[in-house]
Amino acid sequence: MRASSRLSKQGRLSQEGLALEYVMVAGTAEVREGELLPVEAKGIKLLLTKVDGSYYATQRKCPHLGFNLCRGKVEDRAVVCPLHKARFDLATGAVEQDARLLFIDMKVKRNLQTYPVQVNGYDVMVGV
Ligand code: FES
Repeated sequence: MRASSRLSKQGRLSQEGLALEYVMVAGTAEVREGELLPVEAKGIKLLLTKVDGSYYATQRKCPHLGFNLCRGKVEDRAVVCPLHKARFDLATGAVEQDARLLFIDMKVKRNLQTYPVQVNGYDVMVGV
């Protein structure tokens, strides 16, 4: 894991209307296809991955009960939590499958927070 080291000057707005800052979180060579890499941007713990050549960044904690999603796995364009198997779309954060414990279904009440990703040369930048 690498701490954030550089900020981008590119200005975009977050969903809340705040200016996004793009923070370099990893080098392109560090992000392997289908692997879940823990990174951090401005103190926010994130998950970074690459699927079919596209990069995705999301919150690292599962919205269900807070388990570390970097210990899960990528299926298609989704991340699956290892604890109760909730499944989230990496691009939108939408819940694709609720959590399940044995035969008990548990509703996941919040989507996964996603963050925009840009590649600048060999730097992977996340907007936070
Ligand atoms: S903590 Fe992730 S599905 Fe329950």
